[in-house]
Amino acid sequence: MGVSRNTKLFVGLIYVSHCMYGNFLALSSVVALGANIICNKIPGLAPKQRTICQSRPDAIVAIGEGAKLGISECQYQFRNKRWNCSNIGSGDSMFGHVHLVGSREAAFTYAISTAGVTYAVTQACSQGNLSNCGCDRSKKEGRFSAQGWKWGGCSADITYGLKLARKFMDAREIEEDERSLMNLHNNRAGRKAVKEKMRTECKCHGVSGSCTMKTCWTTLPSFRKIGEHLRMKYNKAKLVEPIKGRRARRPVFLTLKKSKRPHRKPRRSDIVYLEKSPNYCEYDLTTGTLGTVGRKCNRSSTEIDGCGLMCCGRGYNTHQYTRTWQCNCKFHWCCYVNCSTCSERTEEFTCK
Ligand SMILES: *[C@@H]1O[C@H](CO)[C@@H](O)[C@H](O)[C@H]1NC(C)=O
Ligand SMILES: *[C@@H]1O[C@H](CO)[C@@H](O)[C@H](O)[C@H]1NC(C)=O
Ligand SMILES: *[C@@H]1O[C@H](CO)[C@@H](O)[C@H](O)[C@H]1NC(C)=O
Ligand SMILES: *[C@@H]1O[C@H](CO)[C@@H](O)[C@H](O)[C@H]1NC(C)=O
Repeated sequence: MGVSRNTKLFVGLIYVSHCMYGNFLALSSVVALGANIICNKIPGLAPKQRTICQSRPDAIVAIGEGAKLGISECQYQFRNKRWNCSNIGSGDSMFGHVHLVGSREAAFTYAISTAGVTYAVTQACSQGNLSNCGCDRSKKEGRFSAQGWKWGGCSADITYGLKLARKFMDAREIEEDERSLMNLHNNRAGRKAVKEKMRTECKCHGVSGSCTMKTCWTTLPSFRKIGEHLRMKYNKAKLVEPIKGRRARRPVFLTLKKSKRPHRKPRRSDIVYLEKSPNYCEYDLTTGTLGTVGRKCNRSSTEIDGCGLMCCGRGYNTHQYTRTWQCNCKFHWCCYVNCSTCSERTEEFTCK
């Protein structure tokens, strides 16, 4: 029950990015007037999230953009797996009907979308798109240090990004059950991943590239770097179990399940999960699984992208088609290009 509610809230946010996104950009200038209407139209927002939406309509654009960034990175990271990240945010079938189990895939989804929101908000600050933030003022331009070094330019204000992502993304965890604890933990792991991957870039001054003087600023890496980092964390995700307080009926923290020492907590940067993953082979509403029917597979691979494993032994269909394109183009003086047409027969395989 808690799980399905969590998922609904999650889906609402994806709706922000997928469905309302275009409207939001168009509306952002008159948004102050319409904030109430817009924020009430986004389904599945928790009450606190709705409040944030109403008070910060400019930020909700960046938040929606961030959720979208997270999900498209998730789809990239899992493009060759049975679970391709598409049980979430894939259209109308999503609303209310997806019951993601507390699997490591659910864990990854929360981490990467919170990372996306942290990233997009931080970026929007640096670009001057949000009214409450800008460049990191603790790294203001000063004088050169004795080592010939100083801060300069616009350092990304990761602190603000972390704060807003936490406020907004954590606000949907209202159930106070073990699944909420799991989601909150993974949200934090996602925020932490962005923070850890921040880089410092410098520009050299001084006699012809001697670099005796440098101006430096902190900047976000490409989001792919964060995706890869979290993907690695996913591979090493930790199974946890909830520990109840002495007199409380609800769980208060999570501990590692497979640990020699009792009550060992996972690290803050760990991705944690509560339940074993389904095999993702068949369409199954109870687990929110789309199955692999129709997925492309690789006939010559014995890995998970191969037709054997991807199609779960159901077999595959072969599609043959001819690909044609312009080739051997020659430029003639003056002025035309003469090309010939090349073609190639290609085969594609999809799961039955
Ligand atoms: C900032 O605003 C500009 C213009 O409205 C837009 O093109 C850009 O994508 C925005 N950047 C972010 C990170 O939101
Ligand atoms: C993921 O797989 C489903 C079928 O299982 C397919 O409908 C969907 O288009 C795929 N998503 C992506 C992003 O490839
Ligand atoms: C299919 O798998 C083989 C073996 O792993 C690999 O060499 C090949 O590049 C793959 N083909 C595609 C289209 O991914
Ligand atoms: C373009 O190339 C084709 C064969 O490649 C040739 O028959 C034709 O005469 C060429 N046309 C011109 C204008 O050079």
